Amino acid sequence: MTQIHAPTDHDRLLIIDFGSQVTQLIARRLRELHVYCEIHPFNAVTPEFLAEFAPKAVILSGGPASVFAEGAPRPPEQVFELNVPILGICYGQQVMMEMLGGKVERGHNTAEFGRAYVTPETEQLDLLEGWFLTEREQVWMSHGDHVSRIAPGFRVFGTSPNAPFAVTADPDRHFYAVQFHPEVHHTPNGAKLYENFVRLAGFKGDWTMSAYREEAIAKIRETVGDDKVICGLSGGVDSSVAAVLIHEAIGDQLTCVFVDHGLLRKGEAEEVVTMFRDHYNMPLIHADEQDLFLGELDGQDDPEAKRKIIGKLFIDVFQKHATEVGDAKFLAQGTLYPDVIESVSFSGGPSVTIKSHHNVGGLPEKMGLKLVEPLRELFKDEVRALGVELGLPKSFIGRHPFPGPGLAIRCPGEITRAKLDILREADAVYIDQIRKHGLYDDIWQAFVAILPVRTVGVMGDGRTYDFACALRAVTSVDGMTADYYPFTHEFLGETATRIINEVPGINRVTYDITSKPPGTIEWE
Ligand code: XMP
Repeated sequence: MTQIHAPTDHDRLLIIDFGSQVTQLIARRLRELHVYCEIHPFNAVTPEFLAEFAPKAVILSGGPASVFAEGAPRPPEQVFELNVPILGICYGQQVMMEMLGGKVERGHNTAEFGRAYVTPETEQLDLLEGWFLTEREQVWMSHGDHVSRIAPGFRVFGTSPNAPFAVTADPDRHFYAVQFHPEVHHTPNGAKLYENFVRLAGFKGDWTMSAYREEAIAKIRETVGDDKVICGLSGGVDSSVAAVLIHEAIGDQLTCVFVDHGLLRKGEAEEVVTMFRDHYNMPLIHADEQDLFLGELDGQDDPEAKRKIIGKLFIDVFQKHATEVGDAKFLAQGTLYPDVIESVSFSGGPSVTIKSHHNVGGLPEKMGLKLVEPLRELFKDEVRALGVELGLPKSFIGRHPFPGPGLAIRCPGEITRAKLDILREADAVYIDQIRKHGLYDDIWQAFVAILPVRTVGVMGDGRTYDFACALRAVTSVDGMTADYYPFTHEFLGETATRIINEVPGINRVTYDITSKPPGTIEWE
């Protein structure tokens, strides 16, 4: 059976996923309303699962299938017998109508993709309270098939030119069905519908980070008992928040291992050690393994070889230092909810995508360790909120992501200590510029890459023959796709001048304007 993640003493909302690209956005909207919800694929939601999950309300997501397709995905019939409010969205609306006695027809001229406008009927509906800010509300439609007859008990509460049943409901049973996607940005007032839905379902909005903190601490204590836990601390947000939370729960039973592979940014090692060892008083092993890593990387210029060397050494080094802790039974990881959501697979059972943690992949089995993953129920921004709740400085929590292999993948070609030093200085100046101009929080990630070419320049009266570097800055939602950041020419000019003046070893600065795809964010 698909795993339930929820703390049991919260009201829970079940999102049954039919494979829509935007199902996670539904969960985000609900979490913003302090409602605990989980996404489970339709083919994992059995009657037994429903009974155990005991949702206080259910949302049927959109999805790419047609209800006419053979084996079209459906929720179990029992979902309609739970006696709880149900909201069907797009495909969820169609499958609801089909199963409750209505009729769905194939698209032809009634398919609708993109912006549409819904106008209200005269009868009022609790779900729509306060939703119509004007005479018609903008929504986002994306459907081929459409409902041609609504199910018995349902009435129409909103229409659009191509969707006469844009909003329907059986108010007595609290069954609601909308043809559009209220969760997306292009339905500007969509959050209001979710707010109304959870209010009328009776949710208390008790899913707050301070409540979560207390519960997570109790759960960690119960899981770990008197045993020891080790945690690989990278200085990134996820591992840092996980470490602080676990430390609050079990104190010095937790030891953190911070591996310094010599590929960190300027001042980074000191910052992490000062904050966690001195400020939080955590037992922290600062594994200074720069010579080992840089020695093994010497002469290597193949990107894959470099990554493999770093990955393997990381595990060896982590294991060596973790063994110093003695009889640790648990390994703490900062796994997040998007990593554990099961995705819908139409070919067979539900597929599970669990991303292995790049830093310590394979270690739990190798060392016979059990896992503690206190962030498994959280989205990234909830982790940030929890970090703030735990007292981590906002500037630390809002830091750009930094990859495990560090500066190695920003130094194409052979890595030398001299190049790394130049890169660190240039990166520090660039980030300083971005902060000074108030742009840091608008950017997903920004860094300098030092290029494996030397170029000729004139400085003062002499010729120089120094490295060229590339500035990179991107906007992104999840790192999967990205666009370059549109700095002004003034900003770029000023930054180039500062880097060339302040960083010996660089005499040429370029700006990388590649989006992802086709490029990647990192250079290697
Ligand atoms: P790319 O370069 O693939 O990067 O567009 C997407 C995001 O992932 C980060 N990244 C990594 N993070 N270990 C990590 O922890 C890695 O090996 C790694 N490679 C890329 C990258 O910084 C960006 O945020």
